[in-house]
Amino acid sequence: MSGITIRALSKRPTTSLRPLRAIVAQRSVSGTRLNNKPSLSHHTENSMASALPPPSPPKMSFQDIFAASHGEHQNVWKNFWDKGTYHYWDRGQASPSLVDFLKDHPDLFQPTEKPLTALVPGCGRGHDVNLFADLGMQAYGLELAASATQIAQEFSSTISPPPAPGSRSYITGDFFSNEWLDRLDTKKFDLVYDYTFMVALDPAKGLREQWAERVAALIRPGGILICLEFPLYKAYDLPGPPWAIRSETYIGLLETVGFERVYHVKPTRYLPAGKDSDMISAWRRI
Ligand SMILES: C[S@@+](CC[C@H](N)C(=O)[O-])C[C@H]1O[C@@H](n2cnc3c(N)ncnc32)[C@H](O)[C@@H]1O
Repeated sequence: MSGITIRALSKRPTTSLRPLRAIVAQRSVSGTRLNNKPSLSHHTENSMASALPPPSPPKMSFQDIFAASHGEHQNVWKNFWDKGTYHYWDRGQASPSLVDFLKDHPDLFQPTEKPLTALVPGCGRGHDVNLFADLGMQAYGLELAASATQIAQEFSSTISPPPAPGSRSYITGDFFSNEWLDRLDTKKFDLVYDYTFMVALDPAKGLREQWAERVAALIRPGGILICLEFPLYKAYDLPGPPWAIRSETYIGLLETVGFERVYHVKPTRYLPAGKDSDMISAWRRI
């Protein structure tokens, strides 16, 4: 009996050692401490790892930032303005295409006793607002964030005041709300200008149609809407903003709400962003 027992016991270590060795080998590969003794190399590696800065996350594109917001685009715009990161779209000047178009088409506006009123929704730092004011209009720029209007105001204080009767004002508000309009004496404008505003609104949410209705409500009969059409070159399957658009889209949106197109011209001077595809359209409110 005992001989049998001894043989059995003496065999046990031999058979049970093999899996243990395998585990030891496996653990030392994965860097786990063995037999409670701290491994110097492991300790050093850990200290070095904590001393190194964490790997920086991959840079997100402008469009990725909007996509990651799960539809909260207004917050994204506000965030850009709060941080002062408007370099993504700001070009530091009024659009040369608009400057030329206004110079070449003085017939667009009939002489009036009162100064013309102009509105630039999503005006950014206000370059186009300032252009209209310099032409003697009462020009209003609308921006979503208070930080944006403050930046526009600060920029305006660095340039010459507009000649009388021109004036420039920067208002904070959501284009689709009446809250900002209620604060103004002007309820209908002689001129509205759109560049990179409507195409910055998500078309999947029906905002283009809402933009057209809103613009129609904000322009007096006989008044003018000028659109610097952009980005006409962009493929529809690419993410926005800006979302791709075509001249036909403007027709579809604006004729439906009571505009007739009076001009559709190719600018001679244009911003590089348009890749030589921009067009200017002018629409009279019927
Ligand atoms: C692409 S940027 C263009 C700014 C300006 N037009 C320019 O060319 O520099 C679009 C602007 O629209 C503003 N915006 C977006 N949605 C708006 C809304 N619902 N009401 C007013 N402004 C809005 C954003 O804050 C942003 O400054």
